[in-house]
Amino acid sequence: MGECAALDVLQDGRAHDYLSIEHIRRRLSTERVGTRIHLFTEVGSTNETLRRLADAGAIEGTVVLAESQTAGRGRLGKRWFSPACLNLYVSVLFRPLIESSAVPVFSFVASLAVSDALDPYGVTPRLKWPNDVLLGDRKVSGTLVAFAMKRGLVDYVILGVGVNLNVDAVTLRTALGPLGAGATSLSEAAGLPVDRNVFAAHFLNYLESRTDEYRARGPHAILARWRRRDGMVGRLVEIREPRSAYRGIARGVSDRGRLLVQTLGGAQREVASAEIVVIERE
Ligand code: BTN
Repeated sequence: MGECAALDVLQDGRAHDYLSIEHIRRRLSTERVGTRIHLFTEVGSTNETLRRLADAGAIEGTVVLAESQTAGRGRLGKRWFSPACLNLYVSVLFRPLIESSAVPVFSFVASLAVSDALDPYGVTPRLKWPNDVLLGDRKVSGTLVAFAMKRGLVDYVILGVGVNLNVDAVTLRTALGPLGAGATSLSEAAGLPVDRNVFAAHFLNYLESRTDEYRARGPHAILARWRRRDGMVGRLVEIREPRSAYRGIARGVSDRGRLLVQTLGGAQREVASAEIVVIERE
C-alpha cells in the first residue's frame, strides 16, 4: 500500500497513513469481526466484493477494506464518493439467525458503531434516519445494508460503511457539487489528520460490541441507543418518496425502526423508506 503514502505526499506535502491489516489487527480486540480481513488498493464496491466472498462461503466477521472504490454505492441508487487513500470504505459479513424483517436494525448497529468510534475525537455525532451519521448538520458517514436469503431465512447480511476521514471540504465540494456543502469529514470537523488504521480498528471493535448487544438484548436495546443520538427529533423535514413528497416534523423512530413523522395536517405517519431532507428547526 506504499502507493497511498506516495500519492498523499505528492498532493499536499503531508504524509498520511495507508491502510494496513497488521496495523488494524494490533488494535483489534474482537473475537469474530475481523477474523479474516481482505484489503484491496481498488475495488468496484467493497459490498460487491464481499458479496462474492459470502456466496463462496466466507465466514461471519469477514471484512473487506479498500483504499478506493470505482463504483461505491449509496442508498436509493446514489453513488458514494470514494477517493483513494483518504477515507474508510469497509464491508463486514454477518450470518445472523434472523428473518428478513429484522435486517434493517443492522443499519442502526453500524451507525452506532461509527458514532462510538467518532466520539474520542471531541466531536458530537448525531444520527439521521435511516443510515446517516452527521457532524453538525453535515454527513460524515453512511451505511448500505445488503442481505441474501436461503430457504426462507437470512443467509447473510453485509454491512457496508463509508466514513469520510481525511477528505477535505474543497475536494468534497468539487466532487459532489452543491451536495458537497452537506458533507464533511472527521479531519475537517476535528481539525487534525486521522489515522485510518486506528479508526478502522475502533470501528470494528465497536461493531462487534453492538452486534453482541443486539444478540443478547434484542433490537430494543439498539433502538434505545439510537434514539439517544437521534439528531432529527423536532425538526421540519421533507419526506421524498418515489412519486410524492410531503413535509412534517420528525418525531423519532418507532419500535419497528421506522421514521415517525407528524404531518403538517397533524396526522402521525411511519415512514419505511424515503429520502429525508431537513428543512429547518421546528
Ligand atoms: C449512503 O449513505 O447512502 C450509504 C453509503 C454507503 C457507502 C459504503 S462505502 C463501503 C460500502 N461499499 C459501497 O459500495 N457502499 C458502502
